[in-house]
Amino acid sequence: MSLPAGQFPRLLAGMPERGAMGFAAHQSLHGPLPLTGRQRNRSAHPLILELERAGLRGYGGGGFPTATKLQAVAAQRTRPTVLVNAAEGEPLSSKDALLVSRLPHLVIDGALAAAAMLGSDGIIFALDEHSRAARTLEQALAQRPELNGRGAPPVTVALVPSGYITGQETALVSAVDGGAALPTVTPPYPFENGIKGRPTFVSNAETFAQMALIARHGADWFRALGTGGDPGTRLVTVTGAIGYPGVVEIAGGTTMRQLIKASGGLSQQLGGILLGGYAGTWLGPDGVDVSLDAHVLKAHGLRLGSGIVFVLPDTACVVAEVASVARWLQQESAEQCGPCLNGLNAIAGALEELCAQGDRRGAYSRIERWCQLVYNRGACGLPDGAATFVSTALRVFRPAFDDHARHGACDGCLGRRLLPTPDFAAVSAA
Ligand SMILES: Cc1cc2nc3c(=O)[nH]c(=O)nc-3n(C[C@H](O)[C@H](O)[C@H](O)COP(=O)(O)O)c2cc1C
Ligand code: SF4
Repeated sequence: MSLPAGQFPRLLAGMPERGAMGFAAHQSLHGPLPLTGRQRNRSAHPLILELERAGLRGYGGGGFPTATKLQAVAAQRTRPTVLVNAAEGEPLSSKDALLVSRLPHLVIDGALAAAAMLGSDGIIFALDEHSRAARTLEQALAQRPELNGRGAPPVTVALVPSGYITGQETALVSAVDGGAALPTVTPPYPFENGIKGRPTFVSNAETFAQMALIARHGADWFRALGTGGDPGTRLVTVTGAIGYPGVVEIAGGTTMRQLIKASGGLSQQLGGILLGGYAGTWLGPDGVDVSLDAHVLKAHGLRLGSGIVFVLPDTACVVAEVASVARWLQQESAEQCGPCLNGLNAIAGALEELCAQGDRRGAYSRIERWCQLVYNRGACGLPDGAATFVSTALRVFRPAFDDHARHGACDGCLGRRLLPTPDFAAVSAA
């Protein structure tokens, strides 16, 4: 075993200062990848059991148990497709881009391990159409002997339209299949009817990288770091008022204070912390001692989502930031279901009104009412995430919202917005 159980970092071990780690360096660091083919009892494949013992949960945002999803795909009659979700439409996240561009062989290993265990008919890597990592990935794939011999599974790199919704799994399947990058009605779910109607194992790029390590070192090795409720390590993208914005690997149970320190400390006075991105939850400045343990966070109604921490300085106006992201989410939504068409529009409009003019026409109560109304009503998780983002802000920053309700715009409203709201449509058209 080339990486001792207590070694840290794991995923980011040996990452070159620039460019991608080549296959030879990757092999010498991690050793050969053991590939075990499809078994008679497909749901009890040794790697699935090991992933179950490891307690591996997906890193795409939902935290779904990976072994359960693999079992559901393995139980289907038709040969499945493996789909690596590296679309990363969340503007505050860059961990998947980092993995694919700097450590592509870890992601490829995970996809190969999944394809072998499922007896897959092909592997597809889905990347944003503007991703600079696509070329790196193609070059890394060309270095793999497993993909160049007879009987190798066909591998494709699919470029999908930029957009927040594109990475949602049914939208991704549709986009890869040549359709619109919009969520489709479920059921059927991708595990039963995905790419070209085949069962499809869709998972996040980081989840595949973790599978690559567990396939080599096993569940006990994985659990040697982290906590019982949040075993192993994970990547977190830290941005905002921080010394060194970027991607950090942390073990489950690391505190926010430790993460901030590892990222170079605060660069400005702390105003608040956004955990989990635009489907995430807010913490006030007193939240620095929170444990970033998925289990503990869940018990407090918080989540790290796809591993995102944004540090808001106290000079920013949180009300204006929340209003701007709420409008962006409404524009990024597919507007094909009621909660997005009506609910998100009403929430964003009322936030904008509150921010600019105060609470003249009951904007406050409209925001609270609509946040409750949109939950569980959409075909995908976007409206639930948006409502969580807005309603936790309302709870944590009540004095700031009350102040806007009474007086309208504040000095901070005049400043530049810090939370990014990229114009994907304009980028695609250019
Ligand atoms: C609006 C929305 C956007 C999403 N975007 C991404 C994404 O960019 N990348 C990703 O891996 N998962 C994304 N997801 C989650 C996927 O639907 C899916 O759960 C995930 O790819 C499964 O991988 P995992 O089990 O490894 O987490 C998104 C979900 C929603 C509701
Ligand atoms: S809930 Fe919103 S984003 Fe999701 S499919 Fe419906 S309209 Fe589109």
